[in-house]
Amino acid sequence: MTAVITGGTSGIGLAFAEALSALGESLVLVARSREELATVAAGLSRATGVQVDTLAADLSGPAGQAQVSERLRDDDVTLLVNSAGYGTYGAFLEQDPDYDTGQVDVNVTAVVALSHAALPGMVARGNGSIVNVSSTAAGQPMPFQAVYGATKAFVTSFSYALADEVADSGITVMALHPGYTLSRFHDRAGVSRSSVPSWLWLEPEAVVRQALTDLKKGRRSSTPGLANRVLLASAQMSPPRLSARVSTVLTKRFRP
Ligand SMILES: NC(=O)c1ccc[n+]([C@@H]2O[C@H](COP(=O)([O-])OP(=O)(O)OC[C@H]3O[C@@H](n4cnc5c(N)ncnc54)[C@H](OP(=O)(O)O)[C@@H]3O)[C@@H](O)[C@H]2O)c1
Repeated sequence: MTAVITGGTSGIGLAFAEALSALGESLVLVARSREELATVAAGLSRATGVQVDTLAADLSGPAGQAQVSERLRDDDVTLLVNSAGYGTYGAFLEQDPDYDTGQVDVNVTAVVALSHAALPGMVARGNGSIVNVSSTAAGQPMPFQAVYGATKAFVTSFSYALADEVADSGITVMALHPGYTLSRFHDRAGVSRSSVPSWLWLEPEAVVRQALTDLKKGRRSSTPGLANRVLLASAQMSPPRLSARVSTVLTKRFRP
């Protein structure tokens, strides 16, 4: 039993790695930084005694996606966690086009490519799960995070559709919808943490605890935290024009 975790060196991906290794699962961690991969892998195998392999790969391009796909075709893979991802923040017209399209490559294209690699073997064996880390951002159009919100809407839609396609094969596909989670994500996106009320933040460990509980129950969606469940459900029930407007007002304070 091996779990392949993209983004396994930081934040939510790292919390998955810690929780799964504590349960005795072998791991393959994927990220770009070789040094961080080596440090995290050594720490986890020292703490838990499990086998932790690493793959240094950039998931924003076909070469990195192919490298991880090759490992996913091995028979021992029972879980794929697609956690690697990033967001940008600010007016669309002010974004670097390459950095913006890179979001689509990592958050969307890699998720599709890796699912293509992992699923055939899982279906043939009648055993396996995929967790796609989406976001509460999936629930509505996100002005000033236009590309990020759209990538996460894709991930949620894709996950629900796949879940239905493979349900009869004994495979679970789950979309995970974290809200504000303490990690490097917001520093990278240029969003000030202090602009978000402290009660809205969750630790990545809490997000992953809830995700693994929901996965065990075969759920197709996991949204950790009551506030996040209310926010996501109300956004999903509102007309897109209204939820986009509310989103604009709520996120006004993050604007650089
Ligand atoms: N934090 C939040 O509030 C929040 C809320 C909702 C959803 N999410 C989602 O949760 C997921 C994980 O985010 P996080 O908060 O854990 O962020 P994080 O702390 O920044 O971790 C991101 C991880 O992804 C890896 N990564 C980034 N770009 C990559 C690339 N091109 N190729 C391969 N690996 C790459 C990073 O390692 P390297 O930099 O070494 O590659 C790192 O391991 C993302 O999909 C994010 O959209 C986060």
